[in-house]
Amino acid sequence: MDKISILGGKTLEGTITISGSKNAALPILVSSLLTREISNLDNVPNLLDITTMKELLISLGIKIVAKEKSLFIEPSNNISTHADYELVRKMRASVLVLGPLLARFGEAEVSLPGGCAIGSRPVDIHINALKKMGAKLEIKDGYIKASVPNKKLVGADITFPKVSVGATENIIMAACLAKGKTIIRNAALEPEIDDLITVLNKMGANVYRSDSNKIEVEGVISLKGFSHSVMPDRIEAGTYAMAAVITAGRIELLKAEEKYLKNVIKYLNRVGAKIESTNNGINIEGPKVIKNIDMKTEVYPGFPTDLQAQAMALMSVAEGSSVIEESIFENRFMHIAELVRFGANIKNEGVKAHIVGCKALNGAQVMATDLRASSSLILAGLRAEGETIINRVYHLDRGYENLEKKLSMCGANIRRI
Ligand code: EPZ
Repeated sequence: MDKISILGGKTLEGTITISGSKNAALPILVSSLLTREISNLDNVPNLLDITTMKELLISLGIKIVAKEKSLFIEPSNNISTHADYELVRKMRASVLVLGPLLARFGEAEVSLPGGCAIGSRPVDIHINALKKMGAKLEIKDGYIKASVPNKKLVGADITFPKVSVGATENIIMAACLAKGKTIIRNAALEPEIDDLITVLNKMGANVYRSDSNKIEVEGVISLKGFSHSVMPDRIEAGTYAMAAVITAGRIELLKAEEKYLKNVIKYLNRVGAKIESTNNGINIEGPKVIKNIDMKTEVYPGFPTDLQAQAMALMSVAEGSSVIEESIFENRFMHIAELVRFGANIKNEGVKAHIVGCKALNGAQVMATDLRASSSLILAGLRAEGETIINRVYHLDRGYENLEKKLSMCGANIRRI
């Protein structure tokens, strides 16, 4: 089980190149199930979650050849519609194969993904929407068993009861090959969904956001292959921006796009950071003193839940008290107990965390519990005096490409042991 050791207290200075977005690459990879043609995808990050998705698609009969940062994707003539528990349980996003398999083959058997550290992660919104499009779905032996009468989904007018990134992606992909028009109301606005929509329209689909949170899809008979380069990862960018802030350093994030980070930049400016766009990305300068700022996570374009744990690391060393409220997931505070091991003063009350900033953190042995919580421990370790050892770093490898290399290039004393 890999560990990471950090000797904290260094001011980070330098540049970090932001990798392709995990949460854009995952649904785009799944969209290859919608065509029999060859596709290629560039700027794919080398992450555990991407490897898991490749394994899942290969198990369904999709051939994938990697050449550096490019993937060449070739669907075989006989695609299996059974997504096995062994693969699905490793990553929630596996449920995204449900819509495409139903749309293309009229049947699917997809293991329920099961919960994870941050919550039960139900898929009822996905299932109810597919039912409205004519699919018959039942949950049996831990699997979603689905079929479509005469193998053709029918477009429907669907209103999501709550905003869901995955359900929006699943239904958009299903609707591309459905008969007629589908409208999705209360659709998620994340930019990774727009990257998926760009790919689907390159394939010959007809998908568009008709107004703020409504997406319309005119079903077509078949789709072509695609060639695309994945958008940059805004959550990775936000995480490293906070590394500059917590070490009072200065980092240029190459390829980061300000337009996807508006609310994060607003928050970091209020915290005291100096942020400006450059020709190649975004430059962040951390403040000498971090201001205590209350924050509540929201659906996009609000402050992203995927940066909540990282913000909590900042507030742990802010100059006063602050409150962070998590409004998206029911259990996304696993990092509190670990941050407290550094000496942070944080109390959890339901969906709120009350933080009293302290002067210094002390290095500690800590445990990564989920992907983004583990990056908040990295941030605390970069700030803390002395050595920090982070256990179970496979969580980090799910979402951060070459993390140690990128941080040590900016002067961090960090290594994998
Ligand atoms: C996506 O997960 C992201 N994952 C998550 O990033 C991100 O935290 C989340 O969106 C919210 O932004 C990928 O894109 C691969 P949701 P997803 O459906 O689609 C509830 C990371 O760190 N819900 O928007 O699973 C759900 O329980 C990951 O990269 C239902 O109740 O999230 C949650 O409370 C972590 N029923 C809320 O909606 C459903 O059928 C938002 O979930 C579906 C979701």
